Amino acid sequence: MKRRDFIKGVSAAACAAAILPATGSLMTGCTRPVTSDRPNSHGWDFDEIVDRGGTWSIKYGRVSEGQIPLWIADMDFRTAPAVSSALKERLNRDVFGYTSIPDEFYQSIIRWEQEMHGWQVDREWVAYCPGVITSINQAYLTLTEPGDSIVVMPPVYNLFRMFAERLGRRVIDNPLLFDGQRYRMDFDGLERILSQTDVKVLVLCNPHNPVGIVWDPDALRRIASLCRQKGVTVISDEIHADLTLPGYQHIPFCSVSEDAAAVGLVFASPTKSFNLAGLSMTAYCVIPNKELREPYLKHLRDLKLDEAPIPSLVATIAAYTEGAPWLRSLREYLQDNIREVIDSFSNNDLAIKAITPQASFLIWLDCRAMGLSQDELMKFFSEKAGLLLSNGAMYGQGGEGFVRVNIGCPRKIVREALERILLSIKP
Ligand SMILES: Cc1ncc(COP(=O)(O)O)c(C=O)c1O
Repeated sequence: MKRRDFIKGVSAAACAAAILPATGSLMTGCTRPVTSDRPNSHGWDFDEIVDRGGTWSIKYGRVSEGQIPLWIADMDFRTAPAVSSALKERLNRDVFGYTSIPDEFYQSIIRWEQEMHGWQVDREWVAYCPGVITSINQAYLTLTEPGDSIVVMPPVYNLFRMFAERLGRRVIDNPLLFDGQRYRMDFDGLERILSQTDVKVLVLCNPHNPVGIVWDPDALRRIASLCRQKGVTVISDEIHADLTLPGYQHIPFCSVSEDAAAVGLVFASPTKSFNLAGLSMTAYCVIPNKELREPYLKHLRDLKLDEAPIPSLVATIAAYTEGAPWLRSLREYLQDNIREVIDSFSNNDLAIKAITPQASFLIWLDCRAMGLSQDELMKFFSEKAGLLLSNGAMYGQGGEGFVRVNIGCPRKIVREALERILLSIKP
């Protein structure tokens, strides 16, 4: 069967399963072997093709026939067995009355922040939050008025801007600087913006989606000091924090300095690391400064947004109490997937350059050398290569000519995606 026929012949729902027989028959230029066992000694198997049919998956709901969905940021793996067992056990009780947030919830977060990220968090700094973006939106509402300015650092997670604008706030871009290899923050640009405009809030993506940077403590300290001098509050979105890759350590923003603890609100969650996006309403905030914390928590209480769904509590406690070994294996698996992509692009000398991520399962691809408009680029991936990717342009300034690919899936799928790109790009 010809490649194109294969792509056309696979229905969207059966896409992942249908890839299996085709994979392995073509060379990707990848040099490294698959390293995970199947299943491994712990009883989890990231190579398993998990059927997401009938689960109302958004990721698979949008694919056309034969496409592989590598866009929205959830993974095609089962969650950690510890999380599944805890949820099943709790659901089997058949008791779903009004529920308080147990001390275990807070203690699991405090222990996790200490053990994973080296941050000593006081009990009163932590609160349950109804999802990271919903909670950041509440922070916009409590920290700013309509017309106030909020700074973002594009290319960056698009919902920071989208909801700020929907709420009538003005969004100012302080784009990241890119030298073709690495991204860094533009401190001169930020100083200029903060001295010319009455900015109320800066939103930090730490680690950064989509460019995959784990910000170093110096950069975070500089942000904190600048923002404190100018009376700017920092919202630090740390949803990707648990997914740092080997050699990188996540630094919680509020832990870097006194300035950071004074101006920062940290929002985090097991959503990305334990693949729980569909549970929704699963997040927490850590706000050391009482003057920022109290009005924020009052606002959540006033809107009745402080009540946690049972599955969120159970999943968070289980993930942060028993999930570390699974997460360690997941990060190793993701790292090997990333290596396959980086090796494949560099070995084949393509006009696509993969920016090596320092955290998470998203890879930012620089496709500018292909010389296509953004529409042509997206068409190339969706129609020619049969891959549904995230459009770089939606992440704001600096996103044109780029796409984001989600490699949080079995290695066979990653290899198939690489094959499709290689076959489509070569004349
Ligand atoms: C940086 C970032 N923040 C927040 C979210 C979404 O968080 P939630 O589903 O808890 O609103 C995502 C999802 O991709 C993300 O990448």
